[in-house]
Amino acid sequence: MNIEEIINADSYPIFDPEHPGRLALIEQCRSDLKKKQYCSIPGFVSTLALECMREEAERLQPEAFHNNSLRNCYLHQQIDPDLPIDHARNQQDRSSVRMLAYDQIPDDSPLKVFYHASCVRQLVSEIVNEGELFDNEDPYQPVNYVCYQDQDESSWHFDADNSFTMTLMIQRALDGGDFEMSPNTRSDEHQNYDHVSNVLTGNASDTAVSVSREPGELCIFRGCNSLHRVSPVSGDRLRVMGVFVYEFAPGVVGDPEVNATIYGSRVIG
Ligand SMILES: [Fe+2]
Repeated sequence: MNIEEIINADSYPIFDPEHPGRLALIEQCRSDLKKKQYCSIPGFVSTLALECMREEAERLQPEAFHNNSLRNCYLHQQIDPDLPIDHARNQQDRSSVRMLAYDQIPDDSPLKVFYHASCVRQLVSEIVNEGELFDNEDPYQPVNYVCYQDQDESSWHFDADNSFTMTLMIQRALDGGDFEMSPNTRSDEHQNYDHVSNVLTGNASDTAVSVSREPGELCIFRGCNSLHRVSPVSGDRLRVMGVFVYEFAPGVVGDPEVNATIYGSRVIG
């Protein structure tokens, strides 16, 4: 499948760099990203490509690594005995997801074709507006399927040092699996621990927004300073999402120890 069959170009004319519809899309996304900390492009990927991705993820699912852990919202698993037990850094919550790494996904997968397409990378770089983007060159990280079975969830967390996170919804769960976000929970200058604690304990639900995630919808969000989570999934339909990692420099690879926690011990040596 080629990129022309994957992008819904009738709605999003991204193959022509100067097309007014493309430029308007970039403007809208930039504005949303600034105001809301996320932007989304509904129906960006064709039904045909989504069906291939869904079928592929379900077929590969038995080989996925079940990443099941307790962690705090800063993605650490250790308790800090010097802080009160109810401090945000000491609140441990469950995360349970199934990861299919880059090396487990066939090279001709529409998910990889989408990620490696220069027109997609260029569009994202203009939306994020922080300079040129490059593919990640780690053996496991660039493109993943992240799957949620019944009772899986991803508890509130901040993403580690990525300037932005990009995901594609491929299949929704029967119930649950909502993507929720509390925009600007902290800033680069202030950790806002009290507010973070309130979000974690459900006492700041008025600040959380539920981000629409229909199949085919591409989402770019600033997850570094905005707590976000995927609520618990229920039902026996797999929630399937594609996750893409772009870099601001060429040749970037991940830390092997971090990779082992995400993709399992098979990735070491
Ligand atoms: Fe995240």
